[in-house]
Amino acid sequence: MAKHPTPVILCSHGSTMMLGEDSTAGRYWEEVGKEAMKRGIKGVVFMGAHWEVGGAGVEIASNPGKDAVVKQPVAWVTPDKYVDYEINASPELAERVQHLLEDAGIEAKLKPDLEWIHDTFLVMNWMFPKSSPPVTVISTNAYYDPHLHVAIGAAVRPLRFEDVLIIGTGGAVHNLYRNAWTNIILYRDNFAQTKPPQQWALDFRNEALDAFTKNSGPALRRAAMRLMRHPLFRDAHGTDDHYAPCLFAAGAAGDEDDVGTKNTSPAEVWELEQMCNTQFQFGEWAPIKA
Ligand SMILES: [Fe+2]
Repeated sequence: MAKHPTPVILCSHGSTMMLGEDSTAGRYWEEVGKEAMKRGIKGVVFMGAHWEVGGAGVEIASNPGKDAVVKQPVAWVTPDKYVDYEINASPELAERVQHLLEDAGIEAKLKPDLEWIHDTFLVMNWMFPKSSPPVTVISTNAYYDPHLHVAIGAAVRPLRFEDVLIIGTGGAVHNLYRNAWTNIILYRDNFAQTKPPQQWALDFRNEALDAFTKNSGPALRRAAMRLMRHPLFRDAHGTDDHYAPCLFAAGAAGDEDDVGTKNTSPAEVWELEQMCNTQFQFGEWAPIKA
């Protein structure tokens, strides 16, 4: 294909406070939005960690426009930072995603009344201030089959050639049972690191960094799936929900045609002592013609 594909973004969104607190991750998301807008991005397709469905397939948000979007409240963030944010939910984009998934043999139902959760609009708020491009979100499947989530990413990959940005929003090291919550609860300080991260968190962070930046093409997909069998996986992910979007992103960025792509980690920030919010970008932006 002649056209340059959009990069795939894998966000580790961290705690709710990442919505309003400045960090290298937030600045990276801001940069992604600027690069996307410079190239006239036409839509954004998310898979988020916070919406899972039962059964065999997934669901796709098809709220008919911004006025049909209800946002769930965001803990530890003042509402003025997000209540007026315009989520331009696009039923047309949702239908396009549905067809791609069905063509790949994946069950996909539209969900016109999704209540949107901070995993998506936390990131959008940085990327596209005040108002998003046309956007949809794909649910995860609650069985968390790694192959299915990679296949979902692979199915929507053609959108990368149609000026659509594909984003997974989950976590690299994200185990809420092991986070140190005292400073965020008492002082609203999400970045307090009173102690270094524990060894399991540092080690799994390094494994994730290797898996997602030292592989490309189908090897990236295999590395992403293999991490779920790593001895430290369950330490780093108390549940599978925040890892499913990582599989999705690897699926969207791991075709044979993606072999040799530059896969990078442009930003990272630790929160709550044990949570590592590593950001990944698979592929590069197309050069802008003068
Ligand atoms: Fe989350």
